[in-house]
Amino acid sequence: MLKLSFLGCFSIVMMLQAVAAQACDPACQQLIARASAWEQSQRASEDDSFYSVPSNYSTSLKPGSLLKLEIATNLTNYTVPASLTVSRFIYTTTDLSGTILPASAYILWPFAPLTSQSSQAGFETSSTAQLETELHYPFVAWGHGTAGTFGPCAPSNYRALQYHFQVPFALASQGIAVVAPDYLGLGVKQLANGTRIPHPWASGPSLASDLANAITAARVAFPSMISQDGPFVAMGHSQGALAAWSFAERMANDELTLPGYKGTVAIAPPLRVLESIDRASQNVSLPWASAILGIQNLLMHSITTVYPQYGMAGLTQDGMSRWNAITEVDGCLPVKTAAGIGLLPSNIAHANWTQNPYVQQFNKRTLTGGKKIKGPLLALVGELDPLVQPDSLSEVIDETCKAISINDSLEFNVYKGLSHFPLVQGSQQKWMGWIKDHLLEKTDQNLSRRGGLEPCNSKTIQGLQRGATNQGVFPNFLVASADVGVAWEYAL
Ligand SMILES: *[C@@H]1O[C@H](CO)[C@@H](O)[C@H](O)[C@H]1NC(C)=O
Ligand SMILES: *[C@@H]1O[C@H](CO)[C@@H](O)[C@H](O)[C@H]1NC(C)=O
Ligand SMILES: *[C@@H]1O[C@H](CO)[C@@H](O)[C@H](O)[C@H]1NC(C)=O
Ligand SMILES: *[C@@H]1O[C@H](CO)[C@@H](O)[C@H](O)[C@H]1NC(C)=O
Ligand SMILES: *[C@@H]1O[C@H](CO)[C@@H](O)[C@H](O)[C@H]1NC(C)=O
Ligand SMILES: *[C@@H]1O[C@H](CO)[C@@H](O)[C@H](O)[C@H]1NC(C)=O
Ligand SMILES: *[C@@H]1O[C@H](CO)[C@@H](O)[C@H](O)[C@H]1NC(C)=O
Ligand SMILES: *[C@@H]1O[C@H](CO)[C@@H](O)[C@H](O)[C@H]1NC(C)=O
Repeated sequence: MLKLSFLGCFSIVMMLQAVAAQACDPACQQLIARASAWEQSQRASEDDSFYSVPSNYSTSLKPGSLLKLEIATNLTNYTVPASLTVSRFIYTTTDLSGTILPASAYILWPFAPLTSQSSQAGFETSSTAQLETELHYPFVAWGHGTAGTFGPCAPSNYRALQYHFQVPFALASQGIAVVAPDYLGLGVKQLANGTRIPHPWASGPSLASDLANAITAARVAFPSMISQDGPFVAMGHSQGALAAWSFAERMANDELTLPGYKGTVAIAPPLRVLESIDRASQNVSLPWASAILGIQNLLMHSITTVYPQYGMAGLTQDGMSRWNAITEVDGCLPVKTAAGIGLLPSNIAHANWTQNPYVQQFNKRTLTGGKKIKGPLLALVGELDPLVQPDSLSEVIDETCKAISINDSLEFNVYKGLSHFPLVQGSQQKWMGWIKDHLLEKTDQNLSRRGGLEPCNSKTIQGLQRGATNQGVFPNFLVASADVGVAWEYAL
């Protein structure tokens, strides 16, 4: 029973409560309070003074300016693997309309930098006296998936940095530094005068700006460890894969491109969310419908941050009641998950809410994929991903292949039988190897080009004992034995 997938539990709960009122009743509020307390227990610190905006912030600074630097974060309350260290910083970035705003990021440092085996031998004999601070650390600019939409949801203040062994711990343990923006509105939640900084969830170009400016600021903060043109790869999962993909589009713009860029890895990028919502609303029996309909409130909130006049207009009364309960506690993904229990996916939003002009305008402004990118790009998706349907992604990949330059490459792998998060582990040896090869420039230049090869490489990975793996839509394999009654613990 403990191995029931979360979606399985979810539908049982829904069946039990399908006839009950769907506003957030006292039972729902109680669940939210418990999930909120659990979120708090996962934070490194309740003291958020690090995230206050330094007095030298101003809207006339350049994006990528460094505002505050914590060289070595006290890791007492983190579960970061011993030998690794963390720095945090606050820097300037831009929102969708180009306004300069402050945001936070962390860097997870390896104990020693990635080197190829042959150069490592040379290093040991010839430069044993070199200081760690004089070594250059190749890095990954990491875009995290959905953490929530409010200040307290910043990965840099989660004990396990949100993606723990799935990505950041794994990369740093291999000698790769991880430069990881929290994104606008997470961490640094307001300006000194109290003006709230909204989190533009799933706005590709805004998240890509956070990634790019975090890289620039990290180079300012640690010029000897992260050199100005040192190699890096952009990478993300879920919302973060959207960020990384948008970043690859940004790198194709000569004015915005950054030195040292070696390519992008996008794991499960949700590039056509609005279309997926429409497909799911038209047929709620589709196996992936409830998962995708569950994110409608996050999307409406993001649209409202860009167009305040929109005002979450698509939510039903019950949907609004649930959303209000989330905002009252500044709830993150676990709270959002708890708040959805007992609300039918078809009763979250009004029919055809995606037709609203603000929604359409937002979609046009943030549309990512199908455009020119600077490659190489590696895209990975799980066959059973309810949030990113492989058929829809495949179409965007085809459009993108037509748009890219002859010298760029795009490789696409589909993993049979895997869902949204299991894909991260299932594909690790692929992305880890790809990242190392590109950071160390061990790729055959001929292979990383389209010329003379198949325009876009696409491959299916069959996988071993697919039926026996534990597939859930949520990330946390570390708490896979969480009780059904506290199933939201899977969401972080
Ligand atoms: C660690 O957590 C404890 C308990 O919440 C708190 O008192 C302490 O200040 C925290 N330490 C750091 C370095 O954040
Ligand atoms: C802001 O102040 C911090 C701390 O004094 C400093 O490190 C940083 O360089 C300053 N940033 C700018 C853009 O002036
Ligand atoms: C980290 O913070 C704890 C208090 O939570 C303190 O006891 C400890 O000395 C600090 N460690 C360092 C290295 O400053
Ligand atoms: C708050 O500060 C920002 C940045 O300095 C400024 O643009 C904004 O107008 C201020 N808002 C209020 C209400 O004072
Ligand atoms: C809705 O989805 C279910 C499950 O995939 C399928 O059996 C059914 O034919 C679909 N209905 C329509 C009208 O497409
Ligand atoms: C939603 O749009 C579809 C297609 O445009 C239409 O057939 C349907 O009647 C609309 N539903 C409502 C409730 O407006
Ligand atoms: C592709 O790369 C080759 C070799 O570096 C170069 O000569 C050519 O101009 C490039 N083509 C484009 C379209 O960038
Ligand atoms: C790359 O391709 C060119 C032309 O096809 C070929 O002459 C060259 O030997 C190749 N280089 C490598 C390293 O394989």
